[in-house]
Amino acid sequence: MAEPTRPRVAGVRRLIPYVRRHAWLAVSALIALIVMDLLQVVQPYLVKIAIDTNVAARDLAGLGRTALLLGIALAGGFAVQVLFGIGTQYLGQRLVFDIRMDLFRKVLGLSNDFFDRTPVGKTLTNLSNDVEALREFIAEGVVSIAGDLLKVAFILAAMVIINPRLALITFITIPLFVGATLAFRSSIRAGYRNVRTANGEINVALSETISGIREIHQFTWEKESREAFDRSNTHYLKAYLGIVNAYALFFPAIEIVVNGAMVLILLFAHFAIGVSLHVGEVFAFFAYVNMFFWPLRQLAERFNLFQAAVAATERIFVLLDEKVSIVSPAPREPAAARAAGRGQARRASEVVFDHVNFHYAEGTPILRDISIRIAPGEKVAIVGPTGSGKTTLISLLTRLYDTVSGQILLDGMDLRELPLAELRRAVATVPQDVFLFTGTVAENISLYQPEVDARTVEHASREVHADRFIANLPNGFAEEVREEGRRLSEGQRQLLGLARAFARDPSVVILDEATSNIDSETEHLIEDGIHRLLEGRTAIIIAHRLSTIRTVDRILVLHHGEIVQEGSHDELASRDGLYRQLYEMQSLLLAR
Ligand SMILES: Nc1ncnc2c1ncn2[C@@H]1O[C@H](COP(=O)(O)OP(=O)(O)O)[C@@H](O)[C@H]1O
Ligand SMILES: [Mg+2]
Repeated sequence: MAEPTRPRVAGVRRLIPYVRRHAWLAVSALIALIVMDLLQVVQPYLVKIAIDTNVAARDLAGLGRTALLLGIALAGGFAVQVLFGIGTQYLGQRLVFDIRMDLFRKVLGLSNDFFDRTPVGKTLTNLSNDVEALREFIAEGVVSIAGDLLKVAFILAAMVIINPRLALITFITIPLFVGATLAFRSSIRAGYRNVRTANGEINVALSETISGIREIHQFTWEKESREAFDRSNTHYLKAYLGIVNAYALFFPAIEIVVNGAMVLILLFAHFAIGVSLHVGEVFAFFAYVNMFFWPLRQLAERFNLFQAAVAATERIFVLLDEKVSIVSPAPREPAAARAAGRGQARRASEVVFDHVNFHYAEGTPILRDISIRIAPGEKVAIVGPTGSGKTTLISLLTRLYDTVSGQILLDGMDLRELPLAELRRAVATVPQDVFLFTGTVAENISLYQPEVDARTVEHASREVHADRFIANLPNGFAEEVREEGRRLSEGQRQLLGLARAFARDPSVVILDEATSNIDSETEHLIEDGIHRLLEGRTAIIIAHRLSTIRTVDRILVLHHGEIVQEGSHDELASRDGLYRQLYEMQSLLLAR
């Protein structure tokens, strides 16, 4: 997935449905904004009237009335400003709430291939920074930009109404302002782009460092890690310093333009006073010149907010549009499901691989023409050198990936025709390294499945011999698992993985045996636990233990993605071939 190099404004249009959900908030904010602008622009005009009309005519009652109007404009402006602030902030928060939820739902539904090619840090940046950039833009940018443009129009109108000639002279300074703004804009645009890139680098570095901290320590990678982070951090700093410089130059430059405009007004006043100019008009123009450049200055600043938001929106929708490669078919009618013999207690399923081919990337075949039939209740071991495709083969069976060609059938039904939830309930996988979540031990076994109640959890734990170590935890089943279960041993995590699978009562069990050393007592428990889990069910085991290999019905030998040998341990061990080679190489290890 190539990220678009230039953000397209079209992406922003996709926000419309989100804004529409909170249309009343958006509309009230817009109305508040118009009223707010009008009330602000009218104030200097009222002061001009007070000076030129009321004071000049010594009309005290009139002055009182004008002062009252000014007071109302001030108070009203204050109230409307409060409403406007709350409205836009609420709008920003609500909108971002919806988008964040949609993004999370999307990420949750994305298939494995997405996570294979996208660094975690990048997805996290999408969900945090990009969403935040968008919020900032909605809350502080979009409505204010509209409001600023409107205010500029109001001010221009007020100036022309008061004194068209003076207005024209003041406008001479506008090109200067535009020039300064353009220069400012182009330098901060580049700056913010670099900031975003550097920010992404930092997030990827952080997430990888934290996930891989053990490896970093183990292989004394700290120094290089620090230096690499230093480089990313320096990119970030430099990018920001560039922006800081641009701001530092821009504001004083604008001050000069504003002062230049005031000098022009004073010069005009010098030559025209008494002819066509009143003191109040000069006052009002001073106020308007200040007021006029303020929104323009803000516009220049917000332009980058706008740029950042457009780019962020683009990235958000790229993620939201990400194709889900593994789609679940529509759930079947309960009647149809019953007719197919599912829904009833059925412990063992038949699994068929029919001429299955698979690759991750075009041109690099990983599995070639695999055909296997595994009878209900049969136990099959898969052995083969590292990289021969064992893990890939089993991941096809739960549709973590789909076959490129050929079919996989569960009880005669093509996997792609089975609702994913049904398939994944029927086929349970115990991976090599069991991942544990924040939550209690019991929750880690049930994984919040409503049909797995406390009794089932305890029964499953007893069956696979996980109960003993759980009973020794200070809080038993209620013990909190923290930091992905790093305080539990690998063997204990394996036992929890077995209990997890047992509790779901699957009809097929897939087991990727752990290769690492586990103390012999736990090892024995695990062996027996596995035995209990597999009893009466169909099983596919990526086997490393001799004890497993001896007890399975059949062994398939995988080599470069092809099944090269098939048979029982005794048959294969007595024949020349890859199995015997592997067996002889590993026999010391396996016979542990
Ligand atoms: N997610 C992936 N994306 C691309 N290639 C992969 C992926 N996972 C595994 N591979 C490649 O597929 C081949 C088989 O890997 P795997 O099934 O893990 O083998 P085994 O489990 O037998 O060691 C290897 O060459 C590996 O590099
Ligand atoms: Mg593997």
